[in-house]
This record gives sequence, C-alpha cells and structure tokens, in this order.
Amino acid sequence: MSQSRLTTTPQWQALKQHFAMIGSKHLRELFAADAQRGKQLTVEDVGLYLDYSKQRVDADTLRLLRELAVACELPRRIEAMFRGDKINTTENRAVLHVALRAPATEEILVDGHDVEPDVHEVLDRMAAFSERVRSGAWLGHTGKRIRNVISIGIGGSDLGPVMAYEALRDYSRRDMTFRFVSNVDGTDFAEAVRDLDAAETLFIICSKTFTTLETLTNAHAARAWSVAALGDEKSVAKHFVAVSTNAEGVAKFGIDTANMFGFWDWVGGRYSMDSSIGLSTMLAIGADGFREMLAGFHAMDEHFRRTPLEKNLPVLMGLLAIWNNNFLDAATVAVLPYEQYLKRFPAYLQQLTMESNGKHVTLDGKVVNYNTGPIYWGEPGTNGQHSFYQLIHQGTRIVPCDFIGFGQTLNPLPAQGGGDQHDLLMANLIAQGEALAFGKTADEVRAEGTPEALVPHRTFEGNRPSNTILAAKLTPHILGTLIALYEHSVFVQGVIWDIDSFDQWGVELGKQLAKTTIAELTAKDEPKLAHDSSTNALIRRYRQLRDG
Ligand code: F6P
Repeated sequence: MSQSRLTTTPQWQALKQHFAMIGSKHLRELFAADAQRGKQLTVEDVGLYLDYSKQRVDADTLRLLRELAVACELPRRIEAMFRGDKINTTENRAVLHVALRAPATEEILVDGHDVEPDVHEVLDRMAAFSERVRSGAWLGHTGKRIRNVISIGIGGSDLGPVMAYEALRDYSRRDMTFRFVSNVDGTDFAEAVRDLDAAETLFIICSKTFTTLETLTNAHAARAWSVAALGDEKSVAKHFVAVSTNAEGVAKFGIDTANMFGFWDWVGGRYSMDSSIGLSTMLAIGADGFREMLAGFHAMDEHFRRTPLEKNLPVLMGLLAIWNNNFLDAATVAVLPYEQYLKRFPAYLQQLTMESNGKHVTLDGKVVNYNTGPIYWGEPGTNGQHSFYQLIHQGTRIVPCDFIGFGQTLNPLPAQGGGDQHDLLMANLIAQGEALAFGKTADEVRAEGTPEALVPHRTFEGNRPSNTILAAKLTPHILGTLIALYEHSVFVQGVIWDIDSFDQWGVELGKQLAKTTIAELTAKDEPKLAHDSSTNALIRRYRQLRDG
C-alpha cells in the first residue's frame, strides 16, 4: 500500500520547521511576550467563550495551521458536507446530521430529494407521542399511565441519549424514571428493571440497523420480562416502541411500525442523538426543550459553515488538536467538565472522537504515516483533581485538557464558610489551567522555604496546554451547541488527516469472531478449536469455570 502524502506537503513541512523553533518555548515566555495574549487568543460566539491562549501556539502557528487547512481544502469539504455530498466514501453515504437540526424552511437534498420535510415529519410524530406519554394519555396495557421509560440501545444509540438525559436532568420530568440498558451483560437489564412495575414501563428499542446483537438480545429480554408480568403478548403494542432505519427488522421483532420512529442512513450512529434516537431525551425534557437543543446545534452549524477560519470555534479546536497530536506528540486529550450534569460527556465524546478518527488509512486507502485520532477521556472536575491530575501536572506525558465550565449553576448552594459553592467549583477550574500552564519553578519552591531534597518533587514544570470553554448556564440550547462544537472539530481533524470520519469498519472483526466463539462456548460437547493457543485455552478454561 502506498503512503499518504500529507507530511510531504509544504504546509506540513512549514509547521514542522516552525515547531523546531517554538516547540520548546514555555507558555511563560509566550505570555510575557504579549500582555494581551489572554484576551487575544479567545473567541466568543453562539454562547460559548473559548480561551485557547494556554495552547503552545503563537500567531505564526495559527496562520500555518490555517494554511494547512486551506491546503487540505477544509472550506470545500465543509460545504460538501452541508450540501449532502456523499463524503462518507467507504459507505457511499451523505453525512447530514446537520439536516436533523436545520429549520423546516431549509432545503437539503440527498440524491435530489429534500430531506427536511422528512426530518420535521418525524420530529412532529415524536412530539405528539411524547406529549401523549407525558400527559398520561398514552396508557399501558392494563390502563396505567407510563411512569418509567427504558431506552435500550448501544454505542451511538445509547451514549448520546444517556449523556443528554444526565446533562438535562434538571429540565426533566422528575415524576418519571428514565433508565438506559446497553450492555449484553444481563446485569445491566436486570438492575434496570428490578424495582419497576411492568404495567407502567415503556421500552424504546433504539437501533439504527436493528441487527445489533446486544440491543436485540436486551430487547428480547425486555419483551419476555414485560409479557411475563402483563400476561399478554398483545401488551407489546403499548409497552414497546422502536427507533430505527430498518422497518422490516422492527416488524419482525413484533413492534407495530406505527410505533416506530425512523431516521436515515445519512445519520451516523454517533451523530444521531438529535434524531429520533433522542426520543428518550424528548420524553424527559419535552418537545419544546428538545427543539431548543436542536436550535443550539443549528447555531453552531451555522457558525461552523459561515465564520472565517480564524474565528471559527470548531476549526480552531480541530486545528489545535492537530497541533497537539501531530507536533507536540500528545496521544490523549482529557475532557474535564466542571459541571456534574456533564458527567457522561467524556464517555459520549469517546465514541464521537475515537470511532470517527481512529483510522489508519486515507480516503483513498493509503496508509497514514502520522498519528490520527488521539484518545479522549475524562471525568468531571473537581473529582479528577484528586485522582489523575497528578500525572497531568507532573507526569512525563503531555495531556492537553479541555476545561468546560458555566457562569451559573443549576443548583446554587451557599458554601461552607461563606460565598457560593459554585464559585468554589469554578475557582478550581480556573486554577487548574493556570497551574498547568505556568507551573512553579524550583526557585519559587525554594523561596517558600522547601528543604532542598524536596524541591524537585514540588516543582511543576508547567507548559501544559489547555482550552477553557465557558458558557452562561447549562441549558438544552447550550448543550446542543457544545456537542456540535465537538462534532465539527472531529470533522476538521478528519479532513486534515484525509480519513473517513464517518465509517467504523474497525468494529467488525471482533463482532465476527464473537459469533464463532459463542457457538464454541455453547456447544454441548468439547468443540474442536482452531484458534491460536491463547484463545483455545481461554475457551476451555471458561467452559470449565462455568460448568464447575
Ligand atoms: O458497533 C459499532 C456501531 O455500529 C456504532 O457505530 C453504532 O452506534 C452502534 O454500533 C449501534 O448500532 P445500531 O444503532 O445499529 O444498533
């Protein structure tokens, strides 16, 4: 296989030369050289304030990164996505999550067909259904109203809905219970239903393909549990709805397609939480709240499409990620929301970023000779500070951080000893970015009277890059904006690396092998195993342990 030419382009080479000069410069020097830096290297639009002044860049770095973006035809690729071109080339599909949140008046064509009326027809059906459930007009089989909603799905059909439910809990119906089942581990399902009354429980089976092993297995477990409790197969009609692109599969499972909410092959699983996959979100926060969230996504879409590169939030985030990944050689990114409601945001971003950009060949199949998608991970602050921040501050690796915080909390509490508990939280966010960037020199440590033997241990070298993203308050609107920021930043990175950010062939091999392995684990007699010696031994040992 031939190799990608990205690193031989003049723009990449220029960045490499530039890195040789700036790479060892300390953020202390960069800030000392420009008193306005902390104001200059910021952008505020669509409700988000991004401070990227603590990235190890200067004006030349930013210019060279933009030149790279232009050389990689980023503006043309952005337009191609919005226009509905089939930019997911390995699956020959358009990539139009942006159509899910565009106004009904917009026309977006896929193969000459305007998809907006379809999008809004489904949204209206979702709204009508949600209203019936929330108002108590939709009754269960025995005539009781629905009080529990369990969404069954996995990957993109789960992570977005879970994250959004947690993020928007404050806006949700507190008299209803929302749970999510994804893992094929039966414990996930068993724990979700153990204290629920089947007569009050509605299952949403979410699967784009309606063929996913985990989801169908859990859906069958749910039907068995529900029908056993309600004593009638006919109850399925009142207790099961589906979200899918596969009407045939839904009907085969036994769900009336009148109770199915569709979406389309031009919505990738990890980009689908704002499609009907978000039905649980709409049930939780209501149709108006859901539409507010869509408006937030759309605001960022418009910003991304129309703002010049130097002020474009997702472009900046994406290009800075390239700089950190490919020039500073940082292998991971920590996402650190200082907002408890965003506790599942890092987990959601793991799929969005890593399933999108964990690729090793270019669009035309050439092997890349540079690193692509970094590893995303994180936890809410301040919890992470008492756990892994040690490594971020003093370890040997660079871990660029995205700090996310809000001006206002949804739960104002007075702090012990006066002040506000939210100020305490935000003081921590701000202090962490400062500590990472500027550190503490050995001389500063000595000046504090620290014994010489401890000086190296208490020195912080600093120069550790971070973004800080601030917004006024976590609302459905701002959640949409924030998610779209990351979606488009992932796209920007994929364009530079010249990879297909919208396929996921890498998940297939494990799925195939699992099918063979299931047959071997469940075979009555000792099966003939033709795997490697480790896999054969594991299968034998598992069977022994299971069978006692
Ligand atoms: O296995 C990966 C994957 O295909 C994801 O891309 C997707 O989000 C998930 O499985 C679930 O797929 P489905 O919605 O078709 O059940």
